[in-house]
Amino acid sequence: MNKKFTLKSKVYFEQKSIQLLKTISGSRALIVTDSIMDTLGYLQLVKDYLGEAGLSTAVFSGVRPDPDVNVVAEGMRLYAEFAPDVLVAIGGGSAIDTAKGILYFAWKLEKPSSGETKKPLFIAIPSTSGTGSEVTDFSVITAEGEKVVIVDEFISPDIAILDSTCIQHVPQRVIADTGMDVLVHAVEAYVSTKASDFTDALAEKAVKLIFDNLEKLFRDAADGVARDHVQNASCMAGMAFTNANLGINHSLAHALGGAFHLPHGRSNALLMSAVMEYNAELAGSASGYAAGRYAQLAKVLGLPARTCREGTVNFIQAVGRLSKSLGIENSIRALGIDESEFEGALDRMAEAAMQDRCTPTNPRTPYKEELIRIYRKLS
Ligand SMILES: NC(=O)c1ccc[n+]([C@@H]2O[C@H](COP(=O)([O-])OP(=O)(O)OC[C@H]3O[C@@H](n4cnc5c(N)ncnc54)[C@H](O)[C@@H]3O)[C@@H](O)[C@H]2O)c1
Ligand SMILES: [Zn+2]
Repeated sequence: MNKKFTLKSKVYFEQKSIQLLKTISGSRALIVTDSIMDTLGYLQLVKDYLGEAGLSTAVFSGVRPDPDVNVVAEGMRLYAEFAPDVLVAIGGGSAIDTAKGILYFAWKLEKPSSGETKKPLFIAIPSTSGTGSEVTDFSVITAEGEKVVIVDEFISPDIAILDSTCIQHVPQRVIADTGMDVLVHAVEAYVSTKASDFTDALAEKAVKLIFDNLEKLFRDAADGVARDHVQNASCMAGMAFTNANLGINHSLAHALGGAFHLPHGRSNALLMSAVMEYNAELAGSASGYAAGRYAQLAKVLGLPARTCREGTVNFIQAVGRLSKSLGIENSIRALGIDESEFEGALDRMAEAAMQDRCTPTNPRTPYKEELIRIYRKLS
């Protein structure tokens, strides 16, 4: 039985819903976060609310962007010492993925510490609107310079708290990068070979919400309505891709981001047009499955799509306009990457992308040489 749709996390979605923490049952909560959440006061808020619920807390604030195995190992030491029955991740995808890594390695692969009989309640509070990690069973951890994707239902959070007041201080650049990540999640889930009516509904809505709200949010982070919509879109795209999986846009972005230390969303945004052109076979017939799906997304946005080609071209152009309005670079040169270094890394990056967990569900099965050609289009 291969076809199923799973949604494990309970999702609370309104401003100030972080106060739900006051009602959590448990005795010891480990909070996993990065230093910015401390600086902005959110960490204290989490500690206070958990304190009101009668829980003692320990904090692991060593999360860094694109967390690596060493960060996870540090967190695991504290996890083993403190033996929490509640795990709270507050932060961007990096914080939530670190908490997932800790949970996965400490609990699933090693024996739980003595006295622990039950997996801790896992609560994720995203502070960026991007990864959807608060509802996915994915965690992206860097090992030896390469991003490794762990996929396991076990690490999917039990509770996701979408409180968009937590994203009101996100820098404009991060809003752009993470918002484009949402769009790539939704589009890749939509064209995935594992797409279904269930994931389509979520992906289409996420695409529409992003086109209607991301630029507004980018211009004015105080716009609470746009913030709520972009955060909902992020979570919905997460629900779609945790069920339908992703595609080579992410595989190529993981390898590129790992090699050149680019933010995840920016790498994804940079690749988007070239990947869609490849998937839709725009240089050829543009009449296959992927072209039909992109054309359907064009219709969702009210763009002309009388043929698959017309719809695909219009959708790709709309993505390009959105990306430009957010100030996202459209070449590796604009990102300051040395072209000969990029050329030298192509083979290794393409090889890593071939092996990535996201590649098997891409609508077109790639050869390594084709992935290299896609990378070359970024020059
Ligand atoms: N698990 C998944 O399903 C999944 C999906 C996509 C990406 N990822 C992974 O998630 C990571 C990227 O996560 P991200 O895009 O959320 O970025 P991030 O968590 O790395 O955060 C980006 C930057 O924004 C800062 N920041 C976060 N929240 C803030 C706030 N509210 N105010 C001010 N600054 C804030 C962080 O400190 C950091 O410097 C990558 O490692 C990526 O591979 C995971
Ligand atoms: Zn992503």
